[in-house]
Amino acid sequence: MPKITFVEPNGTRHEVEAPEGLSVLEIAHRNKIELEGACEGSLACSTCHIVVAPEWYDRLPAAAEDEEDMLDLAFGLTQTSRLGCQLIMTQALDGLVVSLPSATRNIG
Ligand code: FES
Repeated sequence: MPKITFVEPNGTRHEVEAPEGLSVLEIAHRNKIELEGACEGSLACSTCHIVVAPEWYDRLPAAAEDEEDMLDLAFGLTQTSRLGCQLIMTQALDGLVVSLPSATRNIG
């Protein structure tokens, strides 16, 4: 089974099992990783924003235009940001490392 490592803002690393076909967001939720995902993957928020380790970024399928548009609204956008709900796990991504952004926009 492929694995993903989530890195919390404080540097704590969690290596978890990442079944193929699930999104990074779904995998985070299964493992109680704090990634919000307010719209549950319908590309209507940017709270599933993650920062992909630079060595992995180029190996990912390119972001669709809709994802790019939504990412533009993400707080703390970086060069290697993606939306967790749009990244689907495959065997090729075994070992993926993603960080949780240190701040999320917190309304209310
Ligand atoms: S969960 Fe809303 S865009 Fe990913």
